[in-house]
Amino acid sequence: MVASAATSPKLAGQTLQLSVDASQPGPKINRNIFGQFAEHLGHGIYEGVWVGPDSNIPNTRGIRSDVVSALKGIKVPNVRWPGGCFADEYHWRKGIGPQRFTTLNPNWGGVIEPNSFGTHEFMDFLDQIGAEAYVSINVGSGTPQEAAEWLEYLTTAQPTTLAKERGANGHPAPYQVAYLGIGNESWDCGGNMSPDYYLSQLKMYSRFVRNFNPAQQEKQQMLKIAVGPGGAEPRWTAWTETIMKASQNHTWSWDINGLSMHSYTVGHWPPSFASTGFGETEYAQILKYTLEMEDLVTKYSAIMDQYDPQKKVALVVDEWGAWYTPLPGTNPGFLVQQNSLRDAVLAALNLNIFARHAERVRMANIAQMINVLQAMILTDNAKMVLTPTYYIYKMYLPFQDATFVPVKFDAGTYTHGEIRLPRVDAVAAKDTAGKLWLAITNVDPNQPAEIEVTLAGVTPKSAAGETLTAPKVDSINTFDSPNTVVPKPVTAKVDGGKVSVNLTPKSVTVISIEQ
Ligand code: AHR
Repeated sequence: MVASAATSPKLAGQTLQLSVDASQPGPKINRNIFGQFAEHLGHGIYEGVWVGPDSNIPNTRGIRSDVVSALKGIKVPNVRWPGGCFADEYHWRKGIGPQRFTTLNPNWGGVIEPNSFGTHEFMDFLDQIGAEAYVSINVGSGTPQEAAEWLEYLTTAQPTTLAKERGANGHPAPYQVAYLGIGNESWDCGGNMSPDYYLSQLKMYSRFVRNFNPAQQEKQQMLKIAVGPGGAEPRWTAWTETIMKASQNHTWSWDINGLSMHSYTVGHWPPSFASTGFGETEYAQILKYTLEMEDLVTKYSAIMDQYDPQKKVALVVDEWGAWYTPLPGTNPGFLVQQNSLRDAVLAALNLNIFARHAERVRMANIAQMINVLQAMILTDNAKMVLTPTYYIYKMYLPFQDATFVPVKFDAGTYTHGEIRLPRVDAVAAKDTAGKLWLAITNVDPNQPAEIEVTLAGVTPKSAAGETLTAPKVDSINTFDSPNTVVPKPVTAKVDGGKVSVNLTPKSVTVISIEQ
């Protein structure tokens, strides 16, 4: 585990000791913590994913090929769709068949929603990138009947009227829906419900919104995710208690498998931090805010433990990431921001927190996949660029479904003015083939960190990997300069059974250890 940030500071040049015990394997790091969130918001779907079959931008059935290829590169495990706040105003029938309804998107800029990207297009997109469906149903302004019929349309193999309609729309075979989100932020944009009111809705939706796919009856059953907390305020403690207590005493007719938690790195609302053009102070402030994720996960895990000590219900952090002030000149409702080296460090720190809580945190979805908030990918018409955050997801690929391995270390302290942060952070895991991996972040933007790793349970022969850094804390990749923040090879020294690596300032390094 990470040692307290209050431990004695290490000076530059002083070696930091890490000790990894590969003989004490921990829980599986569920690959779903590398999940994505894609809402009908700004250019997240329209232009980001969907350009339409007649576009000059290369596409397969309307879905842009460059984006598909990039997302395949990070093995996206699941995509949460269609929202967000949008989900509680989404009516699925308007997005199927040859005639689509033109509606509005009142949440996000009040723009036209053409509904040209609907159920079939979403499932086609998932098929193209190889991800599972996390469908968020409309509890706020829909009905249990509407949601139940959507799931029947999606999943039944029987020749019902809805299944025939699905076939007529091009997909006779039933779809698989792996995860069902029952509402979104129902305490706020999802309908301002009280915990008890939401609970009564949850029970009905859980009961009636069934998955009929024959392949999902015994194994691979659809997991149902209830709305959970949105921060540290007392109202969310009460909310979490209400849902978890009811879940503990649930009857045969309803259940849940996950509790959602949302937490953005924002500082204060409304968002006021710039996403680029900032200095060390804002770097340190944002990283301090982001580390509050540890407290939140710990707090809600503890409440869940009271009612569910066997950890049957997962904590699903299905909206997280940095939320900055919109880029000048963009529609403020489109939540457009840049993505810098700071976001890469932020992403690594959060993924490390999720990995350390792997027993309870079994899914996390960064907000949002393309062109919105802390995105993997930015597009501008035909142009596309991969962000520093994208490269963290790529470097962390070996951690998908890997076995957590405990790491002990003195984190040291990075100090900037009044702000004190752990200087380094690290996680380790054995991948599905048994190879040991280490991810180490040097938070300090000024000092390199010399790391010496002592290993138990493995005899290292060689070690190598990649490191992600850049000249400045606010360095970004642009359409014209896409390679400012990209991973570079790094070598580690193996001597006397120990691995040594020198971490550049403000960097994230992932190395594998050959035995
Ligand atoms: O991700 C943007 C918005 O943030 C989502 O729609 C909502 O759920 C959250 O408040």
